[in-house]
Amino acid sequence: MTSSATTQPLAIDGGSPVFKKTVPFMSLGLTREDIAAANEVLESGMLRAASKCAALEERFAAQTDAAHGLTCANGTCALQLAYGATIKPGDDVLVPAWTYIATASMIVAAGANPVFCDVHEDTYQIDVADAEKRITPKTTAIACTHLYGTPVDIDAVQALAKKHNLKVIYDAAQAHLATSKGKGLGAFGDVVTYSFYATKNLGTGEGGMVTTNDDEIAKTIGMLRSHGETDKYLHESIGFNYRMNDITGAIGLSKLDRLEDQTNRRREVANRFHAIIDTIDGIERPTIAEGLEPAWHLYTCRFDPGVLSGTRDEFCAALKAEGVPTAVHYPKPLTTQPAFKDVVTDHPPVSTMLCERVFCIPIHHDLSDEQADKIGEAIRKVADAKRT
Ligand SMILES: Cc1ncc(COP(=O)(O)O)c(C=O)c1O
Repeated sequence: MTSSATTQPLAIDGGSPVFKKTVPFMSLGLTREDIAAANEVLESGMLRAASKCAALEERFAAQTDAAHGLTCANGTCALQLAYGATIKPGDDVLVPAWTYIATASMIVAAGANPVFCDVHEDTYQIDVADAEKRITPKTTAIACTHLYGTPVDIDAVQALAKKHNLKVIYDAAQAHLATSKGKGLGAFGDVVTYSFYATKNLGTGEGGMVTTNDDEIAKTIGMLRSHGETDKYLHESIGFNYRMNDITGAIGLSKLDRLEDQTNRRREVANRFHAIIDTIDGIERPTIAEGLEPAWHLYTCRFDPGVLSGTRDEFCAALKAEGVPTAVHYPKPLTTQPAFKDVVTDHPPVSTMLCERVFCIPIHHDLSDEQADKIGEAIRKVADAKRT
């Protein structure tokens, strides 16, 4: 490692840190209103899915430009319900190799075959041209994750789906209230799934939602969610119990009141990061295509080993000492997960490279401008010290 005479000593080497107290990676607190909303349900005794879940479905669907919303137990169940309504056992389903495991594992759970596609290095989103090359006569669907909260290239996905008659499932677990060309994500594809896991932008503890504009799919998902029941104790199909409960529904509704403002704050923070990181040689920021408004669940940078010495992990250790925690989403592409060893055919190169390069920096609605700027400056300080 070479440090120029002008670089400041890194905290990891005994210098003084940029933050005296570590900046929080996320902000998860419940407000008095959230707690009162949950208490109201507890006091009512109506704990099962009832008016609160119904209201959350209606409001969330409207806010994301979808016709139907169906709450469920979590984002993994949401995917299972979505696949249950769109794919059959034996189908080939295109899915990015660079996403959370559930997007692909629930394809396997549906008895179908995940076909792992590569992603773009600068946006981290599915590479639709690579996906097209992987289409087989058995390919019936494409499942895309709006990863880190940034919408995929929806026009390209929809064009591919039209050309090859594919169903489209979007995993928006990280992308609540993101928009593409001014439209909510519920406007696109056959089904969109969300997670309300505690750390998500809309976090209810556990929880999820499926949205669709297709009345038949909505009906099928409604049945699958509750044991295929069409009338009391009349089961038209095999299904599950993937229902939400009204305590969760009430917390979701209460938090939804603040989600738009909080998402806009994440966007302001992201814009501050862009401005700083664009001036730091050796660290790349995510590229956001024209017309997209991400939800910024995560802000993911890339370490360039051609410019900086050491490894991504050493860079993150130095940032941690400066008071900036980081996280790696994800340390492995899905094609190297043991769970998929029987279905993997190759290791898409960009996904394989990204696992050693990416790191996520703190982003949330409670970050002040000053904190955001200091996070950027800590990245600059470490990069300056590690530039070869
Ligand atoms: C992209 C993605 N898909 C699906 C899920 C699964 O959601 P849940 O944890 O609510 O089951 C997650 C959650 O981490 C996710 O990030």
